[in-house]
Amino acid sequence: MAITSECRICSGEVVEFIDLGRQPLADAFRLPESREPEFFYRLSVGACRGCQMVQLMEEVPRERMFHQDYPYLSSGSTVMRAHFEGMAKRLLATELQGSDPFVVEIGCNDGVLLRTIAASGVRHVGVEPSGGVADLAASEGVTVRKDFFEESTALDILDSQGHADVIYSANTFSHIPYVDSVLRGIKALLAPGGVFVFEDPYFGDIIERTSFDQIYDEHFFFFTAQSVARMAELSGLELVDVEPLPTHGGQLRYTLVHAGARRPSDAVAARIAEEERRELTAPDTLSRFVSGVERVRTELVDELKRIRDRGERVVGYGATAKSATVLNYCGIGPDLLEFICDSTPAKQGRVTPGMHIPVRSPEEYRRSYPEYALLLAWNHAEEIMAKEKAFQEAGGRWIRYVPEVSVT
Ligand code: SAH
Ligand code: TMP
Ligand code: ZN
Repeated sequence: MAITSECRICSGEVVEFIDLGRQPLADAFRLPESREPEFFYRLSVGACRGCQMVQLMEEVPRERMFHQDYPYLSSGSTVMRAHFEGMAKRLLATELQGSDPFVVEIGCNDGVLLRTIAASGVRHVGVEPSGGVADLAASEGVTVRKDFFEESTALDILDSQGHADVIYSANTFSHIPYVDSVLRGIKALLAPGGVFVFEDPYFGDIIERTSFDQIYDEHFFFFTAQSVARMAELSGLELVDVEPLPTHGGQLRYTLVHAGARRPSDAVAARIAEEERRELTAPDTLSRFVSGVERVRTELVDELKRIRDRGERVVGYGATAKSATVLNYCGIGPDLLEFICDSTPAKQGRVTPGMHIPVRSPEEYRRSYPEYALLLAWNHAEEIMAKEKAFQEAGGRWIRYVPEVSVT
């Protein structure tokens, strides 16, 4: 019997297609000596028969994930810093050209985008519930509201600041299961001629690359142009543009407006037609994806065991949230992966959720190179390869698992 749940977009029937098992919170890095019980939930994903939206079957309470000690720093990557600076400049040069423009960001994290907006003197507010990263944004001159964005937050901002010309959100809209409240808030807060722009991992790329590690507690929705168009329609909005992005392993940037406010670009119809041709959420496509995921697990674990049995070392590179899914699903612990190096201060000195692999600074990996490094932050491959050229020059080899297991 198929396992089902109720769609958060259209109330249709969501049918489960993959179960990644019992998983910890992906960003819950622990002190090694911690005796606190660890929180686990069942990580599984389904597709809605009605609107095609791909979504988690179970929701984790938001306060467990996003709090004072949320460790992820958006500014941790040079490439992402440039990406968001570029986007801020583009918004300033286009949508924010009115007399007193106003922009709201949902999930501004450490201010990676809004600091450019703030420096230009444009009125803005970043809504960010995670206190630690919100404080970092404030220290960059960004106006921050420490809150979850939802309908009440939107109405409150509307009351005090008026309509927003731009509502922007990167890697956050997909994190929000209570999307009905958020969309009502956006509908109310957005100026009649305004745009709601968001970018998130693209389900089409997840299917193409078998990148199942995009699936974890924080990533609730996996969008396609088809499902976003339907979601927009149900909330009085309209999808008028889509733009593919190379960031974070393949994303789409969606532009929504009040229904009828702008003519949709040809890219929308073209993308939807391509998705229909690829049958992204058809049972056959999804079962091929599941077989691909199982193959990656077998091959990766076999590779790591062979290396261990030869007495050679493997270190992980990048204690990403994504890696929690891979490590816990594959059962990769400190016996197969000595430690993981990561540049984030709040992760160093801790152990990874579930598998309890130590996290250390990149200097420790450079001090004595292992024979192999497992590229867990594969979405930052170019940046990391460039930074770590000396590793390969010293004979070190990279292990990847996206789109398939390879050693180079
Ligand atoms: N925009 C950044 C941050 C992504 S991390 C980037 O692209 O790198 C996701 C962020 O969303 C976290 O900082 C988290 O605290 C925040 N978040 C989660 N739920 C939210 C909500 N309902 N409203 C606003 N921010 C939220
Ligand atoms: P992300 O894939 O969610 O952006 O997370 C990337 C993680 O990898 C984050 O913990 C920071 C870390 N990282 C490094 O340690 N070195 C690097 O050069 C980059 C780009 C990221
Ligand atoms: Zn649905």
